[in-house]
Amino acid sequence: MNAAITSQDLAPGRADRYAQVVRLSKKSEWQIDRDLLQDRGFDFSRKFLPDGLSRVETLTFLTPDDARLLSQIQGRTYAYIFGLVERFISAKMLDQGRAHALDNQLALEALVRFTNDEIKHQELFRRMELMIGEQMTLGYRQVANPSDVARAVLGASTWAVLALTCHIELFVQSHYVESIVKGADLCPLFKDVFMYHWKDESQHVVLDELEWKDEHARLSPADRDTAVNDLIALVAAVDGILQAQSAADTQYFMRNAAHPYSEQEGATVKDVVLGAYRWQYIISGVRHPHFGRLLTSMTTAAQMERIQAALAPILAG
Ligand SMILES: [Fe+2]
Ligand SMILES: [Fe+2]
Repeated sequence: MNAAITSQDLAPGRADRYAQVVRLSKKSEWQIDRDLLQDRGFDFSRKFLPDGLSRVETLTFLTPDDARLLSQIQGRTYAYIFGLVERFISAKMLDQGRAHALDNQLALEALVRFTNDEIKHQELFRRMELMIGEQMTLGYRQVANPSDVARAVLGASTWAVLALTCHIELFVQSHYVESIVKGADLCPLFKDVFMYHWKDESQHVVLDELEWKDEHARLSPADRDTAVNDLIALVAAVDGILQAQSAADTQYFMRNAAHPYSEQEGATVKDVVLGAYRWQYIISGVRHPHFGRLLTSMTTAAQMERIQAALAPILAG
């Protein structure tokens, strides 16, 4: 296995990509307090998550104040979910880096820097949760423990974990470029958090692809088939978390909204929030053109059909 990795590492294109990631990572290094927070707080007179992600604008019966509250609850959850997935992503990248430790030193450095970024992002999201929690009424609930989720995810095959990671880090970019950066009226600090996050993630995704393709090349057809089943199970697990979190967030919203809403309106809020979370954490990644190309190139037609059948209820919901 070592000889194969070394010969691949010596291919000029491949070595260049690791070198480029290391170079960019050093150039764009940032610190949470010095560069991002700068003693600022979140502006609760503005929305946090843009309508394109939160779908709050489709709930036309909400008052403007309540629409803003729902966007802020979803923004709080947005930071929580990234902190949650980054627990398993950082652990996985530590393992991937270790596998390069005695061969490709640039790959090792790139993956160590990647891991370090995700540890920093988790600190940032923990601090955001404390800052936002101080300003919002008690009762907001996070439905899953990040370490428990990571333990379960890391039990899946490396191919599946790398595929899920690549999907997440691609949708981070489309969320920022297509929605967050365009939200002129959003809380400035919330926007900045996800600008800094996006900068790091656009480097990570280069490494996800390299590692995923390497792993794919190592596996037998039978192992690849098992890995596809693992990926389907991981997406189902993500959907389970989204169902529980959207229910918890709707409950919190209904308790704290200024205007009283009917049971029927509450049910509509719940449906829209679940649809928004499925869009944010599953559909926007699955529909990312580059992810589609990668997944198609690493699966058979029958495997793609299995994946599509498993996704159908989520896409329809
Ligand atoms: Fe991150
Ligand atoms: Fe990342």
